[in-house]
Amino acid sequence: MSKSLIIAIDGPGGSGKSTVARSVARRLGFTYIDSGAMYRAVALWALRLGMDLDDLHRLEQLAKEARIELPGDRVLLNGEDVTTDIRDPKVSDAASRVAAQPGVRRAMREEQRRIGSTGPSVMEGRDIGTVVFPEARVKIFLDAQPEARAQRRASELGAPLEEVARELDARDQRDRSRAEAPLTQAPDAEYLDTTHLTPIQVEEAVLKLVRERTSNGKGHK
Ligand code: DC
Repeated sequence: MSKSLIIAIDGPGGSGKSTVARSVARRLGFTYIDSGAMYRAVALWALRLGMDLDDLHRLEQLAKEARIELPGDRVLLNGEDVTTDIRDPKVSDAASRVAAQPGVRRAMREEQRRIGSTGPSVMEGRDIGTVVFPEARVKIFLDAQPEARAQRRASELGAPLEEVARELDARDQRDRSRAEAPLTQAPDAEYLDTTHLTPIQVEEAVLKLVRERTSNGKGHK
């Protein structure tokens, strides 16, 4: 169990997790950890190796061997900068598939707990408040209407809205329905619908919650 102060931000794709997690981490001087980037890195490696994404044993092995580092906003896989490559839609789909494998999740979870125990962190993902850090002091479940989420993702990627909406929906359904650590709101998480909020309003709402759930949101181990 981590003794560090953890702010867990979970929610579906396009709900605004990365934007708010990054800005809140910056405001508080905490480490920002994008757990989805870790699943994406494993997926990228598996795709490059032409691996069968249903081969749970080989995937688990790969996840254990992958050297994933998250310096600042960059993502390194075995020393190579893959920050851009992991955002490819093919990798998004593969990430959601490999993330359904219990062995892959086990390897990622251990690594996420290790990183989170090194100091105060804002970690975003799907199962941070439910499984990775169920004892996290601050838990937020971010959400937005599906149209708004698809719109945000489409402008980020510069891709056609309909195509993005279809892919996002397929991925969300898989992430919500898998047996192991599905995307779901922790009972003690604060639900925040960002559909009609600006990034600054979301940041303010999260910081307010951090202040309420901690003495001052700073100065913790
Ligand atoms: O947050 P993201 O879209 O970059 O995540 C990519 C995929 O990784 C997502 O479809 C589900 C999976 N994921 C997960 O299962 N658990 C997490 N904590 C984070 C991401």
